[in-house]
Amino acid sequence: MDVIHSVAALRERLQREPNNVFVPTMGNLHAGHIQLINIAKPRAACTVVSIFVNRLQFGPREDFERYPRTLEADCDKLRAAGVDVVFAPDEKEIYPEPQTYVVEPSDLQHILDGAVRPGHFSGVSTVVLKLFNMVSPHSAIFGKKDYQQCLVLTNMVHQLALPIEIILADTVRADDGLALSSRNAYLTADERREAPRLYQRLCRARDELASGARDYQRIELDVMSELAHHGWKPDYIAVRRQSDLQPPQNGERCLVVLAAARLGKTRLIDNIEANV
Ligand code: PAJ
Repeated sequence: MDVIHSVAALRERLQREPNNVFVPTMGNLHAGHIQLINIAKPRAACTVVSIFVNRLQFGPREDFERYPRTLEADCDKLRAAGVDVVFAPDEKEIYPEPQTYVVEPSDLQHILDGAVRPGHFSGVSTVVLKLFNMVSPHSAIFGKKDYQQCLVLTNMVHQLALPIEIILADTVRADDGLALSSRNAYLTADERREAPRLYQRLCRARDELASGARDYQRIELDVMSELAHHGWKPDYIAVRRQSDLQPPQNGERCLVVLAAARLGKTRLIDNIEANV
């Protein structure tokens, strides 16, 4: 496995590898990331993983500085997973000058997580487009844990006619249902015990939808008030349609329930699809 830090060295290495598949990450890798790699590996001769904590997608009061950076442990995991190339640039390599050209995603960037995190999806799209240009993969894998991110990036590839297939992977969870996330490391022991409630509550909402409930607002408010009752501060709980994350019209069958809520100092997001 080659660990590469500069764009020039990456381009030289990948000149020999036109058939490559790409998994972008911010590091601090867990089984959710490794699943993406396992999906990637059989699809190409060369699997490329990037590790880059992208300042552009963090708000001024968010956790950019304290985001866990664990490059050595990450490389051990990637080696064991059979990755061929790790691209771990420092900030000057990706942003040698202020990034004044940015990708502005559609209206999608202003709703749900985008409403709470202004500029977040523009920052994600901009860095992913740059990484795509550096790696030139034929396919890239993303996790549905970040459901809105998946939609934003799928739309970007479509609208900008990038020759890249986007493949989406299911969310990997701990045994108690909590979606794996690098941010789970911020939880105290008490919070970690409480954290699975988010997914349990989403499952119940999905079951209600599956058994015919269509009063979406009531379902959202029920989840919201139960979480608040247990000390959470929900940013949003939303029943939306899968295709564009807009409120469902009558008869809509492909739904997703999305949630973001703070538990102590940690912001957790999760979602569950409901095909009713
Ligand atoms: P990061 O949070 O490191 O996630 C990297 C990839 O792993 C994303 O596609 C994310 O959806 C996926 N992932 C994270 N937790 C997962 C889980 N429990 N199950 C399945 N997949 C999971 O997402 C980012 O980084 C950044 O925004 C990035 C796309 C790299 C751009 O900076």
